[in-house]
Amino acid sequence: MENEPLLMLPGPVPMPERVRYAMARQAINHRGAEFGRIYADCVRVLRSAFGTSHDLFVLSGSGTAAMEAAVANFGKGKKIACLVNGKFSERLLKIAQRYGDAVPVASPWGTPLDLRGLAKALEGGAGMVTMVHNETSVGLKNPAADVGRLCQKHDALFVMDGITSIGGDVVEADSWGVDVAVVGSQKCLAAPAGLSAVSVSSRAWEELVTPAPYYLDLAAYRKSAGNTPMETPYTPAVPLFLALREACLILEEEGLPARVARHVRMASSVRAAAAAWGLPLFPKVDGMHAYSNTATAITVPDGVADADLRSRIRRLGIEVAGGQDQLKGKIFRIGTMGAISAPEILATLAAVQCTLTALGHRPAGDGVAAAYEVLAG
Ligand SMILES: Cc1ncc(COP(=O)(O)O)c(C=O)c1O
Repeated sequence: MENEPLLMLPGPVPMPERVRYAMARQAINHRGAEFGRIYADCVRVLRSAFGTSHDLFVLSGSGTAAMEAAVANFGKGKKIACLVNGKFSERLLKIAQRYGDAVPVASPWGTPLDLRGLAKALEGGAGMVTMVHNETSVGLKNPAADVGRLCQKHDALFVMDGITSIGGDVVEADSWGVDVAVVGSQKCLAAPAGLSAVSVSSRAWEELVTPAPYYLDLAAYRKSAGNTPMETPYTPAVPLFLALREACLILEEEGLPARVARHVRMASSVRAAAAAWGLPLFPKVDGMHAYSNTATAITVPDGVADADLRSRIRRLGIEVAGGQDQLKGKIFRIGTMGAISAPEILATLAAVQCTLTALGHRPAGDGVAAAYEVLAG
């Protein structure tokens, strides 16, 4: 029997059967009570995953739609300091350039954020700061609480992309001082691609711009969410909401602390394998920055072509990700997000290890055994 490919990507990720089946049903009225309950379930669970008690809306659009909604609704015309150390923080910078006076505060990809540069930009009048919590492109977790403190000191709005951390790692949007946080459905939530969610603090509402964008008008989302039954302003992607609700219920059943602990264990096992192979992790961490618990970026060894490595692994039925843009061919990335656990990790690491050997690279040690120690311990 041919199995479906095992997606060990930093999104999309394999979806539990319950999530897939939830979509396979007759259309329902998105202005009816059942849809209202579905939306409310999503909001309840997502609030806990975001660590927020603020307004939260589900948008029909991928993570980038929520990123754009954050900047377009609250940053238009503002000086926006954009912390950049990877592809997705660069995307936030590009969005900010469309709507405001964007000030890049950039560090080389995969290296710590320039918090001194941020302080300077804030002293220079930046009224909004953008940051990616988990930079998926480089496998690095940025210090959200520290950035939040700086924003609060200077009374600037803090927009945090939690697209690959929310639902898989610890996120405390309210206590970190995050004003607008966003997540994507196809990442740690293990739902289908195509939805995102955005939380909005009361402080952010005070800075709502006019005119707001039309389709991504968050004030319109707030108004519709206050209706009985709860609604979205325009026709939502209902089948995806059905699936997201199921994914949220699974998260609730597992419990957020257990889910985060599982993600930490999975990523630790991948890091242990890389260390045993003698392959450096790509990001540079310090006391404030950490390796991602949802995507591990490993340096491709000299003499091995990344495209060969990944295509051979793909032929075994497993997909891992390559590097993006300037990191093409230099790193490969293993996602540890969503519903996966030990069997998928061990299969993936065995495939990587054997393929490295088949391509003529002799790993320093047994990465699968090292990962086993973490997973079994
Ligand atoms: C950190 C981060 N931000 C934003 C995005 C973009 O999200 P989407 O592809 O859902 O629009 C991604 C996607 O990989 C991501 O990892």
